[in-house]
Amino acid sequence: MISSPIASRSTSAAGNVDRPTVAVVGGGVIGLSAAWQLAESGCQVDLFDDQLGRGASHAAAGMLAPVSEAAYGEDDLLTVGLESARVWPDFAARLGHASGIDVGYRPAGSLLVGHDPQDAAALRRHAALLAGHGLAAEPLTSRATRALEPALSPRTTSGLLVPGDHSVENRSLLRALAVAAERAGAHLHPQRVAVEVQDGRAVGVRTTVGTRHVADTVVVAAGIASGEIPGLPRHAVPLVRPVKGQIIRLAGGAGLLTRTVRALVAGEPVYLVPRESGEIVVGATCEDVGLDGRVTAGATHALLRAAIIVVPEVAELELVESIARFRPTTPDNMPLIGTSCIDGLLLATGHYRGGILLAPVTARAVVDLVHRRPVDPSVEALSPQRFPSPAEVTS
Ligand code: GLY
Repeated sequence: MISSPIASRSTSAAGNVDRPTVAVVGGGVIGLSAAWQLAESGCQVDLFDDQLGRGASHAAAGMLAPVSEAAYGEDDLLTVGLESARVWPDFAARLGHASGIDVGYRPAGSLLVGHDPQDAAALRRHAALLAGHGLAAEPLTSRATRALEPALSPRTTSGLLVPGDHSVENRSLLRALAVAAERAGAHLHPQRVAVEVQDGRAVGVRTTVGTRHVADTVVVAAGIASGEIPGLPRHAVPLVRPVKGQIIRLAGGAGLLTRTVRALVAGEPVYLVPRESGEIVVGATCEDVGLDGRVTAGATHALLRAAIIVVPEVAELELVESIARFRPTTPDNMPLIGTSCIDGLLLATGHYRGGILLAPVTARAVVDLVHRRPVDPSVEALSPQRFPSPAEVTS
């Protein structure tokens, strides 16, 4: 529904206590999840994105892998990732029910594999890190690793089975979220907007064709575009920067792999994520090159070469897509989820490599904040207020 040129929703200065009005800026996995859950919680929701579902979450592999991706010094990210992984099965089931679309939640676990002594040492270090957190992972011999995934190269010498890291089909997920959000009453507008700020408070958005939408709360969930939304005062602009990812999709791999496989090839990480359909997603580069969105021959070659080293039969599959998008990251690589330095403005952005995984906890936190309830403790460490605003730094 497109609103009148004046204002789409009536609201009072004190806000609508029973049916808060919310404008969500950004229609990727985070914005759509928030819009769906906000609408289900009774909010009147308008979401704006002229590239609805075509950003980073369209390119994603759909891994739900907090354990495989755990790293030293990233305990807060691990905690929130584990919490989101815990609630993913329920999120997927509810979303399937609400949308009538199967989101391809695949609880098959992940297998980390190595090809040389350095890789084996890296897997042992990872197992030690996980053991320190009490997380399940099973070191495997070469034989046991290949028994689990017979398509792995005979060069595979070590493995670490991570039974709790699963995957989801990201594009079905985006379709399902859009359907569920609309069925719950949210309005999805294929438009760009500026945020309107009056007297230091976000009061709504204005589309590029001049339509105003008044809102009690504006949620910025626009991934890398979050850093360039017009209307925000400089000190309120989220600190996000792009990390380019190139990723490829192969067809014809039904039955080749039963679970996500992650490997290091000549020191470079590569993952292969199988789908029920026979698609295998191979990713991904991590490039600090600004907003250069080109798909390059070198990256596609490197991904294919690595994937074929890990699983030789990949050479027989059909290459159906090479795509590049920008992961939104922050100065400490953790998302920005929570209240901003502007009243009425919430941030849910900067999810870097974890947008698909963290969508359920992020949406839940946004709903709690809009309804003025405390957020889950796992999300508190992700408050945008952990960074001083430029105004504070220069004052
Ligand atoms: N989450 C996978 C990636 O960023 O490549």
